[in-house]
Amino acid sequence: MNRILIIDDEQSLLTTLEMLFSKEGYEVRTACGGRDGLLRLSEGDRPDLLISDVKMPEVDGIQVLRAAKKMDPCLPVVLITAHADLRVAKDACNEGAYYFLEKPFRNKQLLEICREALAFGKADRRYSDRKRELSSARRPEMPVGEAPCFKAAMELATKAAESDSTILIQGENGTGKEIVARFIYRSSRRGNRPFITVNCGALQDTLLESELFGHVKGSFTGAISNKDGLFKVASGGTILLDEVGDTSLSLQVKLLRVLQEKEITPVGSTEPVPVDVRVIAATNRKLEDHVREGRFREDLFYRLNVIPITVPPLRERSGDIPLLIDYFLKRNSIEGDHRQLFSGQALELLESYHWPGNVRELENVIERLCVLGHSAKISEKDLPEEMRRPRVAPLAGEDPKPTPTLEAVEKAYIHWVMEQVGGSKTRAAKILGIDPSTLYRKLPR
Ligand SMILES: Nc1ncnc2c1ncn2[C@@H]1O[C@H](COP(=O)(O)OP(=O)(O)OP(=O)(O)O)[C@@H](O)[C@H]1O
Ligand SMILES: [Mg+2]
Repeated sequence: MNRILIIDDEQSLLTTLEMLFSKEGYEVRTACGGRDGLLRLSEGDRPDLLISDVKMPEVDGIQVLRAAKKMDPCLPVVLITAHADLRVAKDACNEGAYYFLEKPFRNKQLLEICREALAFGKADRRYSDRKRELSSARRPEMPVGEAPCFKAAMELATKAAESDSTILIQGENGTGKEIVARFIYRSSRRGNRPFITVNCGALQDTLLESELFGHVKGSFTGAISNKDGLFKVASGGTILLDEVGDTSLSLQVKLLRVLQEKEITPVGSTEPVPVDVRVIAATNRKLEDHVREGRFREDLFYRLNVIPITVPPLRERSGDIPLLIDYFLKRNSIEGDHRQLFSGQALELLESYHWPGNVRELENVIERLCVLGHSAKISEKDLPEEMRRPRVAPLAGEDPKPTPTLEAVEKAYIHWVMEQVGGSKTRAAKILGIDPSTLYRKLPR
């Protein structure tokens, strides 16, 4: 049976539509107004189709549309309004509404549109499931990397997989925290049980709490049925609390309880429920700093940090770049290896680039080059512009300080230029655009 959610601030219209759709064999839920609608959306079984009025006080139809698409990008949404104006209709379509229907409309017309929208939503869902399957098939069995610092992290991960301890994975954006977490999960005794990832930064506090711990019927307006939280769903398995550094202090208290007592309390309940879940937390923030600044609870930090694993940034393991390139080429079904496809200079540039987006950035670069289909060798000029520009700071071997002083940057840059020109002061001065005597003066420093 197709589930449909109808949101309108006018009770009489809700009643009419409820009758209309029930008669057609739909399972109908209604919500009076946008705020109520949002609550309905976030709980219970997701609808297959959403119909919403546009002009509503507090939360309007466009806001509902936006939230609904965030929760479920494949959900078809039909908007109806008496105040149709072109701009709203255009906005609605840009935000992904399936149809924008003007009041008054004929029932037959609405039913027809809804039938189409449902078929469209189903096709869209099939497509996105397939895409997800493909992308998970593309995930490596074993994270690629031979550099000592990366291998040390992987050895620690292998050891950690044997135990049930909580793990904190830290590392910059795109370093591979999630694939390391998946590797640990697969190698652990829980490898055939669920693995659930929760992006703690993406959800608002109350929603995140109900998402993690579940809620009981009637615990807040719109909680029309009991709902299991992800800790329950992951039972026997592993949960990855991604971006744990983005949680609020009040949620941190609750997470601490889960780790200490191994039980959860659903929102609105007083009955704690025991859970058996291995927790892996990941963050790209420096949690120690957050603790110092009072933004992250120290006790939770220590609870999470039982086994700390730091995935090193790509710039610290540039020796792995050729390996990763080969891996990404193969994944894009490209024959040959990095030596055949890239000119020596292009490879050098890739290896000396500072990769702020780490492995993900490299993955994207290779994918882009593959899509563009180069027949000849990929040379320097085929690379993205930012990789061709000389780098100022931080330089190899130097600790990347968050904000270096002007003097440090100048010193590092002079060193780098000197290195590039093989120590020739005249050439260096020319590149630096300063007088050789100025360079002599600066050098002894
Ligand atoms: N060692 C590796 N071998 C192969 N692929 C990798 C490796 N590290 C990262 N990747 C790929 O790079 C991309 C980013 O990795 P992942 O999502 O694990 O990083 P992350 O640290 O969780 O990123 P974010 O901080 O943005 O959450 C993924 O597509 C992943 O498959
Ligand atoms: Mg991640």
